[in-house]
Amino acid sequence: MKIRRLPENIVNQIAAGEVIERPASAVKELVENAIDAGAGRIDVVLRDGGRALILVSDDGSGMTPDELGLAVERHATSKLPNNDLTHVVTLGFRGEALPSIGSVSRLSISSRVAGADGWKICVEGGHVHALQPAPLDYGTRVEVRDLFYATPARLKFLKTERTEIDHAVDTVQRLAMAHPGIAFTISDGERERFTSAATEDLGGAEGALLRRLADVMGRDFAENSLTIDAERDGVRLTGYAGLPTLNRKTTKHQYLFINGRPVRDRLLTGAVRGAYQDFLARGRHSLVALFVEIDPELVDVNVHPAKAEVRFRDPGVVRGLIVGGLRHALAEAGHRASTTVADTALGAFRSVNAPGSSTDYGGARGFGGRVSTGLAEAAVQYFAPRDGSSVIPGLESAPPAVAIMEPSTEDTSFPLGAAQAQLHETYIVAQTAQGLVIVDQHAAHERLVYERMKTALASGAVTCQGLLLPEVVDLDEASVNRLADRLDEFAELGLVLEKFGPGAVVVREVPALLGQSDVAGLVRDLADDLSEIGTTQSLKERLDDVCSTMACHGSVRAGRRLNRDEMNALLREMEMTPHAGQCNHGRPTYVELNLTDIERLFGRR
Ligand SMILES: Nc1ncnc2c1ncn2[C@@H]1O[C@H](COP(=O)(O)OP(=O)(O)OP(=O)(O)O)[C@@H](O)[C@H]1O
Ligand SMILES: [Mg+2]
Repeated sequence: MKIRRLPENIVNQIAAGEVIERPASAVKELVENAIDAGAGRIDVVLRDGGRALILVSDDGSGMTPDELGLAVERHATSKLPNNDLTHVVTLGFRGEALPSIGSVSRLSISSRVAGADGWKICVEGGHVHALQPAPLDYGTRVEVRDLFYATPARLKFLKTERTEIDHAVDTVQRLAMAHPGIAFTISDGERERFTSAATEDLGGAEGALLRRLADVMGRDFAENSLTIDAERDGVRLTGYAGLPTLNRKTTKHQYLFINGRPVRDRLLTGAVRGAYQDFLARGRHSLVALFVEIDPELVDVNVHPAKAEVRFRDPGVVRGLIVGGLRHALAEAGHRASTTVADTALGAFRSVNAPGSSTDYGGARGFGGRVSTGLAEAAVQYFAPRDGSSVIPGLESAPPAVAIMEPSTEDTSFPLGAAQAQLHETYIVAQTAQGLVIVDQHAAHERLVYERMKTALASGAVTCQGLLLPEVVDLDEASVNRLADRLDEFAELGLVLEKFGPGAVVVREVPALLGQSDVAGLVRDLADDLSEIGTTQSLKERLDDVCSTMACHGSVRAGRRLNRDEMNALLREMEMTPHAGQCNHGRPTYVELNLTDIERLFGRR
């Protein structure tokens, strides 16, 4: 056995194998270099998903010809001033990225520092060419051509152009979120795929961050999120967390940054799940962008070849900080929401009883104005004229909390009984022979739609229902493309949609079974589903997931008033449908109390 040193070229290719996995990894390294160089704007262009060309230009500090020569040498870096790996304050620190990229592609770097001429250095499959002058206005321009031409095995593992671009866009967006003071663009050679201006000076750092987050995560997020600001043992947590009502099917929109570095960390996912667990259904995930600032000595960034993971000296502190910070913000939000609800109710009450008001309050005045709004409205409802007009002007818009019905004539011998009332527009109360049943109308209907859809699909008998007004749903470009790939499959399921420009789809027909559904929410969730379904799997193979998503959006939402016939129809169908006792999330759809239970409640037994 003879031990020999590997040639530099091969050493670099081995390093590249770890650092540069796909075009997006090269984009990440180059954009990080531009950020470390103090750039104010960074432009990225990819051709053929980055296979043919990756171009990254910046207006940062630039490099002298000497520095250019060193930059492509392995383990040459300007970023570890005291050779101290426990004190990394830049994104780069190993001096490994450029030689790695140069060993597996045709790399050319043009650069100039202020007040000097530009120079260019080229590396081809690890072979470094002589420096030559290159005209350049400012900063640095890096071109990577024919990535992996020197390592064909790696080339084979690349996915479609679109997938590779999506990864690159995601990479740029993550870095952009952590650096709102820098302008970013990324284009696929024909169109800009993401662009975000630097807005720091317009509204202060916080305004700039929220605007940047809105560019990446959508305006919904900016409008429905809570400010997070917490500190513990010298570790600071800032950022934004979505209200529980804004939720998605995947954890894709949970972003974590440690000292300005985007990282993926199970610690985050677990901590966020813990903080939201009382507010979200199983299988739903919140949207968050959290920024942790921590003494660099307390976190090791040198644990992952692509620097995508970090290790904390004390993970418990960071976890506790995230859970505590989120819970605190959510608790404050809950309080705020409940006071506004109370204010509205009081406001409605006052407007009816205001002294000198010309409103004819009719018989209800006999209560001396001390009757609660809900009761007053219920009474009005009960005595209301048959044509549906209200006897109290101005009260039509405020729905009563209880819809009282005339006594039921329906047969109480059905297992789920005869509907008597709807409470809070959410619960149906039915009288049975033995007691009473309370049904959660949303949960029950969701289950019924799910079962009906599965039966209809199995027999190939899905009817569509055209939307009066086709609905345009805005989505990110990757989601639009994922949906667009499966238009035929969706049509078979009764959902007719089309691509509508790069960032939207238009929905023309929905499965008739869904009735009045929340089309935009449905399409967004289906797009999320698709991101988890492999491209080789057909929708039919994942029918349960798709049906469940559709059923959830097609269901009678809590908060919809049902008349007695509708309620009884729902009860009768539940009796005939398998698994109708629980909704698709495993919660019960109804609760039954028999008379003995009720008597016990009142101490009669
Ligand atoms: N866009 C740029 N502008 C100015 N200098 C740059 C730029 N890109 C690279 N450099 C210089 O080249 C050196 C080598 O870059 P390279 O990415 O290979 O290593 P690094 O950033 O130091 O560490 P890492 O391997 O962790 O990324 C950097 O330390 C920096 O001095
Ligand atoms: Mg670098």
